[in-house]
Amino acid sequence: MELLRFITCGSVDDGKSTLIGRLLYESKLLYADHLAALEADSRRVGTRGGELDFALLVDGLAAEREQGITIDVAYRFFATEARRFIVADTPGHEQYTRNMVTGASTADAAVLLLDARKGVLAQTRLHARIASLLGIRHVVVAVNKLDLLGYSQAVFDEVCGEFAELAAGLDFTEVTCVPMSATEGVNVVGRSELTPWYDGPTLLQWLESVRPAPRRDVSSRFLVQWVNRPDATFRGLSGRVLAGNLKRDETVRLGNRTTRVARIVTMDGDLDEAPTGKSVTVVLADDVDASRGDVLGAADDPPGIADSFQAKLVWLNETGLLPGRQYLVKIGARTVGFTATKALGLNEIGVDNVHFDAPVPFESYRTSRDLGSFIVLDRLSNATVGAGMIDFALSPSNVRWQTLTVDKRARIARNGHRPCVVWLTGLSGAGKSTIADLVEKALHAEGRHTFLLDGDNVRHGLNSDLGFTDADRVENIRRIAEVAALMVDAGLIVLVSFISPFRAERALARDLVGENEFCEVFVDTPLAVAERRDPKGLYRKARRGELANFTGIDSPYEPPLEPEVRLDTTALEPQAAAEVVLQRLRALGVC
Ligand code: ADX
Repeated sequence: MELLRFITCGSVDDGKSTLIGRLLYESKLLYADHLAALEADSRRVGTRGGELDFALLVDGLAAEREQGITIDVAYRFFATEARRFIVADTPGHEQYTRNMVTGASTADAAVLLLDARKGVLAQTRLHARIASLLGIRHVVVAVNKLDLLGYSQAVFDEVCGEFAELAAGLDFTEVTCVPMSATEGVNVVGRSELTPWYDGPTLLQWLESVRPAPRRDVSSRFLVQWVNRPDATFRGLSGRVLAGNLKRDETVRLGNRTTRVARIVTMDGDLDEAPTGKSVTVVLADDVDASRGDVLGAADDPPGIADSFQAKLVWLNETGLLPGRQYLVKIGARTVGFTATKALGLNEIGVDNVHFDAPVPFESYRTSRDLGSFIVLDRLSNATVGAGMIDFALSPSNVRWQTLTVDKRARIARNGHRPCVVWLTGLSGAGKSTIADLVEKALHAEGRHTFLLDGDNVRHGLNSDLGFTDADRVENIRRIAEVAALMVDAGLIVLVSFISPFRAERALARDLVGENEFCEVFVDTPLAVAERRDPKGLYRKARRGELANFTGIDSPYEPPLEPEVRLDTTALEPQAAAEVVLQRLRALGVC
């Protein structure tokens, strides 16, 4: 029997739980013990005066979710005589948009619930846009709670009109509005006398009859999840068929090599053919290099490989997307670095050019949900902060890495000491530059090769085009991180003295050099102390409102969590603080 995957979405109070509960109940899909528990709960804590309160049925799940135990998206399976269903039930709170994206990414249809009394809300617009963006083409709008409005046709028509206006700007091929009361069971499963003016399908009838267009028949795609090499005699690629039918003897392409599928191995013996969705182990005819995240594709129509794309982005994090900031992106079975060029706020959707720091196998989202969608992760917390859908690859860059003869090792031998970055971070007026200057003086006197990059100085030249917005600071630090890494390659001990307020960019600076080549020094001066010192009179200006975006006043500072060195400048004189840094550098073997 045919399967329909659909998602339910709507605002918190639109009655989603009640609707799903009602659907399961009326289509006789509840187990007897569930029903008994529901009857008891309804009497005890129900809001329906002892009658069945369907919200309780699904809220059990919601409660688990709130305690953070199980899952973000509840997938429930049910079946009627006509069809099997998997419904992705996603929480309606605004901060859970991420879950809606997850649910929608595998769904073919959406049930969009709204409260007839409220009509189309901001939340409805967001959910409709996300559903459309994620490729859902069939939508049923459940205009709920009509019982509270005397089943007014006028209200229903108005809400439908409002939604039609919204849908006009989206990519749906079919939108059906159903007048409904989930609590009263009106038009959920059976038709109701209470809406004689409505002659369309009930919700269940719609779900049973909707026919999403089958996805374009695509050539075979096989995602390599791991290289299976139990002993010297066997080498297979274990993974999943993402599209098409992978056949034995099929000619396939992997990266820039062409080869043949020699065997398709499973626990239950070899197969001639593996359909979409099947997990198998593939043995290739040739010993082709492969690793996790590679994609085998039909040789005459392989997936593309690229690192820059035009993509649609949905931003899901309180902290907005900052252009130039380094994130991680997870696509297929690969995780690589990610940057975008435009700013986006929470729940904002945009089209942008994005850049991955390594080429990946991909397809447009239109062709493949698996290889055309990605999620964006925060580099430090690994939390999902965004999601994206690839439109197309931008022309491949022709820049290649050039190998040079005189390298860092040669310079270390010549200099007689190791290079490193000493990164001083802290508020304006914390004492970074004073301490950095003293450290450099001592190193220089000992015959070390050094350079000091100072925020105020670099902002006169290389970074004179940048101001103090968050995005400008991200770019400021990105450039300095790159310059510092170049200087490490040049064999220098680089002292960096910048406020560098964000953890993400300091982490980037650390990642650009070797493991023992970075020493983060937190010049820890409380705001009140820095403000009292106010060596440049900037705090006074900022307090008077003459200087916007001043760090610590109206621009954030994220203190390091695990710096190599923390200097408490309320307890240490600059010379003593410099001595602490020098000691640490000696321990690191730099001087
Ligand atoms: S960072 O935040 O991007 O790392 P950076 O260290 O380059 O800042 O520059 C900070 C210096 O710029 C301060 O020491 C101060 O002299 C000057 N400055 C001018 N305006 C601001 C501002 N709005 N916030 C912080 N510093 C400012």
